[in-house]
Amino acid sequence: MTRLHYSPPRNWVNDPNGLVHHKGRYHLYFQYNPLGVEHDNMSWGHASSPDLLEWDDHPVAIGFDDEEQVFSGSIVVDHENSTGLGTVEEPALIAFYTSHSKTQSLQTQSIAYSLDDGLTWTKYSGNPILDRGSENFRDPKVIRCTGAEETYWVMVAVEAEDRQVVFYRSDDLLHWTHLSTFGPAGAVGGVWECPDLFPLRVEGTDETHWVLLVSLNPGGIAGGSGTQCFLGEFDGRTFTPHTDFPLTQSADDAGMRRLDWVDYGRDCYAGVTFAGLPDEERTLIAWMSNWDYAKQMPVDEGAPQRGSMTLPRRLSLVDVDGRLRLRQVPVAPSVVEGARLEELEVTQKSHLPVAVPDAGRLEFAISLGEACGFEIGLEGEDEARVVLAYDAQAEELSVDRRASAAGLPAEFASAERMPVAAAPVITLTLWLDRRAVEIYAENGTRVLTDLIGSLRSPQLSLAGIGGAVRLESLVVGSVVGT
Ligand code: FRU
Repeated sequence: MTRLHYSPPRNWVNDPNGLVHHKGRYHLYFQYNPLGVEHDNMSWGHASSPDLLEWDDHPVAIGFDDEEQVFSGSIVVDHENSTGLGTVEEPALIAFYTSHSKTQSLQTQSIAYSLDDGLTWTKYSGNPILDRGSENFRDPKVIRCTGAEETYWVMVAVEAEDRQVVFYRSDDLLHWTHLSTFGPAGAVGGVWECPDLFPLRVEGTDETHWVLLVSLNPGGIAGGSGTQCFLGEFDGRTFTPHTDFPLTQSADDAGMRRLDWVDYGRDCYAGVTFAGLPDEERTLIAWMSNWDYAKQMPVDEGAPQRGSMTLPRRLSLVDVDGRLRLRQVPVAPSVVEGARLEELEVTQKSHLPVAVPDAGRLEFAISLGEACGFEIGLEGEDEARVVLAYDAQAEELSVDRRASAAGLPAEFASAERMPVAAAPVITLTLWLDRRAVEIYAENGTRVLTDLIGSLRSPQLSLAGIGGAVRLESLVVGSVVGT
């Protein structure tokens, strides 16, 4: 069955790991507890898909053992057999993961290899392959770097407590030498985790710049877990940001809002991109939860499960008034277009006569006219609701899910804000299912992802604020097969 948001059938899941496109399939590994719904016994779970839409679940790929939990990391295909673990004809897949020691306070980088295209994995006998004697050295992302004269491997990982990204280099994936360190910079209100580094083209130009993603927890823009996006240049050794980012904590709201964020919602964390795709198809998946409450989220006793992934998103850069922004376009299932409303003048809160799909897309185009904003309500029974409010003066969209938080952890009750530039017509695309909403504005350069509490038989409403607004169009699409 096509779903909007991947989750394994049972048990705990957090970060996506080892994303790789290999022999025509997308492999999604993830932090997984094979034994239950707690964040424990960390292993790599595994699913794969031909199209990022239909996922097949596979057995646990890399399991915890008496010595270690298997924390986050990445995968590369060793085409040249530089490790000697496969062959050139049948290259090994090499997974880099963090060995979180069970016997001492130590995090080191280890590898496992697969000789059957990612299904079964063997831990390397020479582990760990990188040990700094650190308690907080984790989340290796390995990329292939092609410089003017040579090609080699680069690993980015974090010294989490130091708010630093560390860069290493290797020719054989087994021996690593330190290149440079980036940070602290920008948001430093929490530990740095799950870095990613990749080149990205500015749409409509030949210009390419480098993107360094750094997740941090807590201290994200919406509270708790969040991901900052540093734009800059990488010369094969050192990452140099385009601008200097002053150190900022959550208490400095203006400072936080000057930074670039992948997502303005509460539930988009540890996002990383696929190896094995051309740069034009750079694709990110993130964990759709937040460490503020992930461990307390309720589970269904019949099929106990906690955690899921965001929609996959294709990335690019766009120049908006001289400033580069990350653009995200979701890779989403096709929808059957249902109701369409057009040219509706609204002042007082009005019910919109369309059925809200169990999983689907709502596309709004709303003219402000003389109004200073509008409110879109998603209203369930018993006053449960989620409200999206646009404020043209503040140029902000807020999402308030507090009235949907009954029975959920106290930290879940929140409202978040995302900048959305004022324009004669505001267009918003919502990808929605029964547990989350992903909101894409300004052509995908502003994204907000929030889990929502359960809304029984949700209905849609619209109200103008400070005057009449005009619903130019609302197009509702249901995901086929839900
Ligand atoms: C991020 C993270 C990583 C770590 C993993 C453990 O959510 O804390 O830094 O490797 O989760 O599950």
